[in-house]
Amino acid sequence: MLGSLAMFGWGTRVKSNRNYHDPVFLNETLEYLAIYPEGVYADCTLGGGGHSNAIVERLNEKGHLHCFDRDPEAIAFASNRLSAFKNQITFHPVPFSEIKNEIDADTLDGVLYDLGISSHQVDDSSRGFTFVGDQPLDLRMNQEKDESAQQWLRQISAEDLAKVFSNNADLDRSYKLAVRLIEKVQTISGDILPQDVRGVVESVFYDKRRDLNSILARVYQAIRMEINQELQQIEKSLRGAVSCLKVGGRLVVISYHSVEDRCVKNTLSPFEKECICPEKLPVCRCGGNHRLLKKENRKPLLPTSTEIDQNPRARSAKLRVYTKV
Ligand SMILES: C[S@@+](CC[C@H](N)C(=O)[O-])C[C@H]1O[C@@H](n2cnc3c(N)ncnc32)[C@H](O)[C@@H]1O
Repeated sequence: MLGSLAMFGWGTRVKSNRNYHDPVFLNETLEYLAIYPEGVYADCTLGGGGHSNAIVERLNEKGHLHCFDRDPEAIAFASNRLSAFKNQITFHPVPFSEIKNEIDADTLDGVLYDLGISSHQVDDSSRGFTFVGDQPLDLRMNQEKDESAQQWLRQISAEDLAKVFSNNADLDRSYKLAVRLIEKVQTISGDILPQDVRGVVESVFYDKRRDLNSILARVYQAIRMEINQELQQIEKSLRGAVSCLKVGGRLVVISYHSVEDRCVKNTLSPFEKECICPEKLPVCRCGGNHRLLKKENRKPLLPTSTEIDQNPRARSAKLRVYTKV
């Protein structure tokens, strides 16, 4: 486990803006985590520390919070914000797929995922997460590691790019879009800029001018998810979280688009079943009794109109809650 603040690279830029990120579903998250003061919790998506701050405020000196983020800027910002609670927090500056390696089995009373990216990551133009402006395409959650979107686009085939568009963002015309984008990229010797991507999207969706921004958002989303291996991360981490939870512990997951939500639902649904035999077996041979999760709500929770008015980012959010049984 990584507990020392010195390990987070204090040299990392720390923005002092108070609105690094406004947490979504804050009250519901606290209610469903049902925090008790001596409990042990994990916030797998620390971001600006909004959820973590509210969780750790409810713990006493025996309680503990594990905070994960793969973005060194988030760790630097939030560890500064939460410095008053340093004895109750362990920061894990690693991808949340590492949860099972970082935390012992059957030890957590609650785990939170607030998936996707923070407002800060989008607002900081140097991160290259947005198609507004003229910053080069980057899209990495950790700029100290991994390959940028630009580098990735220069070596991917049109076939594979089309799969990324349709699998990660349910985009129509994905093959045409992929072919045109690869053709465009081949003509660019310098940075790939938002206007380059916008030009291609406009040419493919010439009849959908009013939807261009939402299509562009999905193009960026698809590439971002691939660059950061987001679905693979979610699958591996959720499985790890189930093993780290104690019986009675809560798993709370906030997702922001249908592909993400589907991944959460499909990863967790096998844990809700008593029988784990292959579907083609006519009779159960596993003996049943394998159920590890119980859903707290039949359907995911949606934000109230008041929350959406106050925080437009909540618009597409869905909250799923499970209890380990
Ligand atoms: C929506 S923000 C979380 C905001 C946070 N709940 C708050 O109140 O400020 C998501 C955060 O999760 C981080 N993140 C996304 N995927 C991750 C992964 N696989 N491993 C670790 N951190 C991840 C992002 O870097 C980002 O900081």
